[in-house]
Amino acid sequence: MMMGVLAFENDQGLWNGGYYSQFFGIGGVMVTVAILWLSTGYFGGFGAPFAPYFWPYLGQLPKKKERQRPVRVYMDGCFDLMHYGHANALRQAKLLGDQLVVGVVSDEEIVANKGPPVLSMEERLTLVSGLKWVDEVIPDAPYEITEEFMNTLFSKYNIDYIIHGDDPCLLPDGTDAYALAKKAGRYKQIRRTEGVSSTDIVGRILLTFKHNESRSENAVVESCDQMKTQLSNFLPTSRRIMQFSNGQAPSPGARVVYIDGAFDLFHAGHVEILRSARQLGDFLLVGVHDDQVIRERRGCCPIMHLHERTLSVLACRYVDEVIIGSPREVSRDMITTFNISLVVHGTVAEGSSVDEVDPYALPKSMGIFQIITSPKAITSVSVATRIIDNHEAYKKRNLKKKASEDKYYTQKKFVFGD
Ligand SMILES: *[C@@H]1O[C@H](CO)[C@@H](O)[C@H](O)[C@H]1NC(C)=O
Ligand SMILES: *[C@@H]1O[C@H](CO)[C@@H](O)[C@H](O)[C@H]1NC(C)=O
Repeated sequence: MMMGVLAFENDQGLWNGGYYSQFFGIGGVMVTVAILWLSTGYFGGFGAPFAPYFWPYLGQLPKKKERQRPVRVYMDGCFDLMHYGHANALRQAKLLGDQLVVGVVSDEEIVANKGPPVLSMEERLTLVSGLKWVDEVIPDAPYEITEEFMNTLFSKYNIDYIIHGDDPCLLPDGTDAYALAKKAGRYKQIRRTEGVSSTDIVGRILLTFKHNESRSENAVVESCDQMKTQLSNFLPTSRRIMQFSNGQAPSPGARVVYIDGAFDLFHAGHVEILRSARQLGDFLLVGVHDDQVIRERRGCCPIMHLHERTLSVLACRYVDEVIIGSPREVSRDMITTFNISLVVHGTVAEGSSVDEVDPYALPKSMGIFQIITSPKAITSVSVATRIIDNHEAYKKRNLKKKASEDKYYTQKKFVFGD
């Protein structure tokens, strides 16, 4: 089975593309600088601990202009196997202030507290900083907010409030991890996002793998249906989609770029290809294939279903609009309807079957097709493989966590918040 994907690329030359400056202006340059710093400075091994990266506001005006200083809120997390539940938590956190600073827990701290992370620090940083609600990121944040780190947040980062979800977070000694912040009157709470968790996603991957081992056509189909009924508590609502959407059409004269794919298990490679694609125009339209299209191509269902994949793509700061369940083939009607100027595609590693018809035949014949390639080898398959390789360890860790999540879902009452 192939959980294929878009393995892509970040062509440095694209940064100098003519459409770029007209779009992002000064802000875009800042993004570039931040990202280059991220790849050379910090990961080269000499970054200062807690060095922040800054992102400009992209199209969001600060609220409450009359106030002297923006309200800065802090939220942290491991963001391992990041999903739209994390994105939704950060969206809610952002609503509690003007600027959102996110602490990403270090690999070492995750190993010590929960076992090996699936994604590396670099991948987790790319994912978190790709979210449109995030203004700054603090890499290698501690797992526990100690008094010392809390004071650093207040004095060095000018944090006003520390945010956490409404699920209790206990330290090994049984005390409340946010007691200090609460005592200081600098704590605010958001609601847990229903229906998805990393534990749940690991479960879906392991289940798919189990059926892959038996290798019969029926087994694969069975696993699809099982995954839907047994594992997912996610109920997509139009309100959630609206909360994630930019809600904006392209401005007059805008150059619309189109990219499509499965975007399953949304990962750092996706963020990078979307960034590259956005630089080629003024408005990025993303076609997210429906479950059926993916099933036909791969012979197996995607790990995340259409609405989940749509939310992950919408949460990305480089995305302007999404077609929910786009057709496989780019048709003349689509190009006309959306005034698409350029169709791009990454280096593809997707699907076990080769298309009989080239889905990009039309844009190619029109001379508006471009391939973008990526040096990063990460794909949905490689992410899933990391979990499968550590099969036993994750299975154990998962069983334990799944029991507590199942308990939550049997005991839970009315929830219809944010
Ligand atoms: C499923 O099986 C095929 C063939 O044995 C293998 O190439 C593929 O990597 C497997 N998929 C996963 C997710 O392990
Ligand atoms: C369609 O896109 C082109 C740029 O490729 C732009 O010049 C033109 O104004 C757009 N049309 C509309 C109606 O926005």
